[in-house]
Amino acid sequence: MADRQFEEGTTLDRFLMDTLADHPGATGTFVNLCQSVALAGKMISARVNRAGLAGMLGETGEVNIQGEFVQKLDDYANETFKAALVHRGHTCMVVSEEEEEPVLIEERWHSGRYVVTVDPLDGSSNIDCNATIGTIFGVFRRRSSEGGPAGLPDVLRSGRDLIAAGYIVYGSGTLLVLGSEAGVHGFTLDPTIGEFFLSHPNIRIPDGKIYSCNEAYALRWPPGIGRFLRSAKERGFRARYIGSLVADFHRNMLKGGVFLYPADTHAPQGKLRLLYEGFPLAYLAERAGGAATDGTSPILDRVPAELHERTPLIIGGRALVEEVTASMRADSV
Ligand code: AHG
Ligand code: MN
Ligand code: MN
Repeated sequence: MADRQFEEGTTLDRFLMDTLADHPGATGTFVNLCQSVALAGKMISARVNRAGLAGMLGETGEVNIQGEFVQKLDDYANETFKAALVHRGHTCMVVSEEEEEPVLIEERWHSGRYVVTVDPLDGSSNIDCNATIGTIFGVFRRRSSEGGPAGLPDVLRSGRDLIAAGYIVYGSGTLLVLGSEAGVHGFTLDPTIGEFFLSHPNIRIPDGKIYSCNEAYALRWPPGIGRFLRSAKERGFRARYIGSLVADFHRNMLKGGVFLYPADTHAPQGKLRLLYEGFPLAYLAERAGGAATDGTSPILDRVPAELHERTPLIIGGRALVEEVTASMRADSV
């Protein structure tokens, strides 16, 4: 299926209907889910574009489960995502960065087939300065039987169980990247008509010489990371780090490179979250020919023990991720 060719300029709806046609038994529920995600993306994009005018900059005064100050746009994006997913009957549970507990979709939708994990707004430290931010999401098919509420086993499971994942980048343009068994494809929002059009068909991570990390933390990192960076410098790499994972990852998907957020002495488990940052992006990286590791095992092989579990993350082009892993392994022998 991943070999299928899609025409640039195809609308997201048309793309979804075409891929649905490849599954004769499909009911269209997954298509509905993707349409809900796209709707939330359009709403958040519109709000992000006007944030400086609409009194939407700054903090709400609340602190989230991660102990971080919640920005007004974090809050808006979270509520918008939940509202978009709640009404269509496709989703039984949402796990969000901004919610301590899983959000169980109302009783009438206990038959919802999918569980969605979401970082509603990634890179929120960049909101106030108009730098690129985004939304990251992953989709599991529930494994508890339909008809009752979903539970933790529906989401505390291997990343290999994901059936789709994606992100939306709110940058100089708004782009939705969707990964599924149909491959990884990017859709650009035409804001004048409110429609996503296929602009980046069949994304594959190229070889590239970019590394992306917060090098100010280098003294806290395992020595293997330092050796990799030294070697990369000798080989003429460039550094690019925006501080929005989704934007750094997206650039490396298109241009090649590796993103590193290792464990360090201040954050021994790493900073980024497994269920709604690590898993979805690892799924996309692998589907696009790349790789993702926590330094010890592939990200998708992990099984989280708790909803907001953190992880070190090294993600991007396969050869570079393997090189970093080998360099880190040399520390432990
Ligand atoms: P979030 O805004 O969803 O809390 O995520 C912030 C993350 C991620 O986007 C980025 O890669 C990382 O924080 C940046 O952290 P540093 O400021 O420590 O480099
Ligand atoms: Mn994030
Ligand atoms: Mn966030």
